[in-house]
Amino acid sequence: MSSKPQDPTFLDSELRPSTWSDYIGQKAIKNNLKILIEAANARGSAPEHVLFYGPPGLGKTTLAHLIAKETGRALKVTSGPAIERVGDLASILTNLGAGEILFIDEIHRLNKSIEEVLYPAMESGVLDIIIGKGPSARTLQLELPPFTLLAATTRVAMISSPLRSRFSGGVFRLEFYTEDEIAEILRRSAKILGVNIEEGAEKEIAKRSRFTPRTANYFLKRARDFAQVEKRILNKESVEAALKLLGIDEKGLSPSDRMLLHTIAEKFGGGPVGLSTLAAALSEEEATLEEFNEPYLLQLGLLERTSRGRALTEHGFKHIGKPFPKNLQKKLL
Ligand code: ADE
Repeated sequence: MSSKPQDPTFLDSELRPSTWSDYIGQKAIKNNLKILIEAANARGSAPEHVLFYGPPGLGKTTLAHLIAKETGRALKVTSGPAIERVGDLASILTNLGAGEILFIDEIHRLNKSIEEVLYPAMESGVLDIIIGKGPSARTLQLELPPFTLLAATTRVAMISSPLRSRFSGGVFRLEFYTEDEIAEILRRSAKILGVNIEEGAEKEIAKRSRFTPRTANYFLKRARDFAQVEKRILNKESVEAALKLLGIDEKGLSPSDRMLLHTIAEKFGGGPVGLSTLAAALSEEEATLEEFNEPYLLQLGLLERTSRGRALTEHGFKHIGKPFPKNLQKKLL
């Protein structure tokens, strides 16, 4: 069974920003959400439904918590795989209070029959439930209190267009952060954690953090542990040593990222190789490669997705210290 990609990192709720001014980066999304919320508040209505998508760790769940805090509304959290039956969704929706926010993480994993129940709930606030089977089946229609659905996915292509179109408040793609934004997030996190970090050390972490706050905060904590155990101060040198111990290289690639690059180069002549073949060669799940490893490798330009599969770029070969095969560019055309 395919499960959520393994992500060894997590974001403590203590590090989660709780005001817009604490939330660094994603400016365009922030500005749009502020307008959506302020306009809804002025009308005395619940903000419309919003979908967030993008690679893991960029702050989709954080945004949902932030919207709830900033609007003073209660937030109920669930996820696509947790809603197994129509009855589960019916129970969640009927238990929402007026104006409350429902957050569904991994919404791409809702099955079709549940999506069908969600449409009228999102669109007109009604819950259509079929009771019984065959000719004696009846439809029960329940009125729901006004609510806001916030949803998140790492796989927007798996969201059907009827579902996507019902996010009338907007569909927002979270972008990777800049190194400066990550450094700012790290300075804030260090302060909250009560960690003394020497100037410049946060830049070393930022450089290797996959442009992702969750990874950056995870590295900060591991570097803090390292400095504490080794009785060192948290500076550029101890950060470098701590990350080296974790197998993180100077570009922030993990051992599994490098294994992916090596496998394409050594077993498949640089590619192109189909995702399922690659996943089998690595004994890894396709979803893990697609959602966790690939976005960053694509962002760095080390990997390419072509119509015939994944291929290493010239940069990719250089990163693993191998010569770029001259015939590869032709093979990709
Ligand atoms: N922690 C995780 N995401 C963050 C962000 N965008 N700003 C501040 N802290 C964060």
